[in-house]
Amino acid sequence: MKFIVTPGSTLHGTLRVPGDKSISHRAIMLGAIAEGITEINGFLTGEDTLATLSAFRAMGVPIDGPTLGNVTIQGVGLHGLIAPTTPLYLGNSGTSMRLLAGLMAGQNFFVEMQGDVSLSRRPMRRVTEPLTTMGAQIETANKDTPPLKIYGKPRLKGINYSMPVASAQVKSCLLLAGLYATGTTCVSEPAPTRDHTERMLMGFGYPVNKEGPCICIQGGGKLQGMAIDVPADISSAAFFIVGAVIANNAEILLEHVGINPTRTGVIEILRLMGAHIDLLNQREIGREPVADILVRSSPLHGIEIPRELVPLAIDEFPILFIAAACATGTTIVSGAEELRVKESDRIQVMADGLQAVGIQAQTTPDGMIIQGGQIQGGNIDSGGDHRVAMSFTMAALRAKDNIIIEDCANVATSFPNFIELAKTVGIRIEI
Ligand code: S3P
Repeated sequence: MKFIVTPGSTLHGTLRVPGDKSISHRAIMLGAIAEGITEINGFLTGEDTLATLSAFRAMGVPIDGPTLGNVTIQGVGLHGLIAPTTPLYLGNSGTSMRLLAGLMAGQNFFVEMQGDVSLSRRPMRRVTEPLTTMGAQIETANKDTPPLKIYGKPRLKGINYSMPVASAQVKSCLLLAGLYATGTTCVSEPAPTRDHTERMLMGFGYPVNKEGPCICIQGGGKLQGMAIDVPADISSAAFFIVGAVIANNAEILLEHVGINPTRTGVIEILRLMGAHIDLLNQREIGREPVADILVRSSPLHGIEIPRELVPLAIDEFPILFIAAACATGTTIVSGAEELRVKESDRIQVMADGLQAVGIQAQTTPDGMIIQGGQIQGGNIDSGGDHRVAMSFTMAALRAKDNIIIEDCANVATSFPNFIELAKTVGIRIEI
C-alpha cells in the first residue's frame, strides 16, 4: 500500500483519534485473568490489539466485541487460561509478545508465540533473561528473537531486577510474571517509563508498591473485573499535533487524549521548540489523566532534546524528526538507541526518508542531528513501520511537491482510520 500526499493544505477541526494502544493491550490481558466481567470502551480496534484479543480467545477466554470500541470480557481468573491448540500469532506487536511472555511463563502449559518479519527481528533477550532467572523455561530463535517457545511453570520465584534499558514492556512483562511467582518481584527502572500496567493493576484491586524507581508486586493475589474507559492515544494524536504546528494557519482540537505524565514527552519537547499547545479540560478518567489538546501553527526552532525526555516520548521520535526538519536551526537527539529496535530501525529509516526529501539528517549510534530546511517532494520507504508512514504524511504539509510513501499497510496496526481522519481535517491524501 502506497500513500500519495499532496502538499499545500492545512489542518482545521476537532477530532478524536483511536484508543490508546498500550492501555488497550493491558485491558484485555488483565480483564482476561481477572474474576468477573471487564467492560472496555474506547478500545483500539487495530491489528496489534486485536492480536492480543485473539490470543486470549485462543486460550479460552470468552470475549465479546469489539463493537464500536466496546469489548466485554468474562475473566477466567489467574489460573483459568487453557493451552491454545496452535501457536499464538502476534503479527507486528512487540507489546503483545513481551507482555505475554511474562504472563505465559507462569502458566501450566506450553505455548509458542510467533510474529511477522519485523517482530521476528526484535530482541527478546531483555525479557527471556530475567524470566529465566525467575525460573521460566523459554526457547528463542538463534539471535534471541521470536518465535518464543514457553514451557509454562506454575511456580516462578520473585526476583529483584534492575533493568538495563528503560522499557515499560520489560517492566510490565516481569510484573505480570510476578503475579504467578512466590514472594515479591521488584523491578527497578533506570528512567521513568509508561506506568499503565501499575495503574491498571491497582484499578483491578491488585496492590503494587512503588518506591522511587522500584516497582514491586507480590504473587498469589487476585484481580477483580472492572470498567475501563480507554482515552485516545497520545502517540496517534502526536501526528496531528505536529501536523497542526508545522502547517500554515492551522488550528485543531484533539479530544479526550490520555496525558499520563509518562507519555507527554512529545508535548514538552514541542513546547521547548516553540509550539503553542494547550491542554484543556484536564480530568482523571479511571486512573489515567485525560485532556483535550488545542494546537495552533507555530514557528519552531531546533533544540538539543533533553535526554531525560527520551523515554517519555519514545514512540514519537519519527514525528518529532519531521518537526525538527521544519524548525529553524539544528535539532540534536541523543540517548535514543532504543529507536533502532522498534518496528523498524527508526534512526536509519527516518534519516533515509528525510534525505530523500532534501533534509540534512545525520545519524549517530544513539540519535540524529537534523538541520531544519525546505522539504521537497519525493519517494519514501516506510520500512513497513506505521509511525514512519504517518510521519511523512504530515511532512507533506510543508513539502514543495507530492510525497509518496511506500509500504504503508501497517498503519492499521495502531491507527486503522488514519486516512479518513487525516482527510476530515484537511490533508490531501490518497492510497
Ligand atoms: C510500550 C512500550 C514502549 C513502546 C511501545 C509500547 C508498552 O516500548 O515503544 O510502543 O505498551 O509498554 P519499550 O517499553 O520497550 O520502550
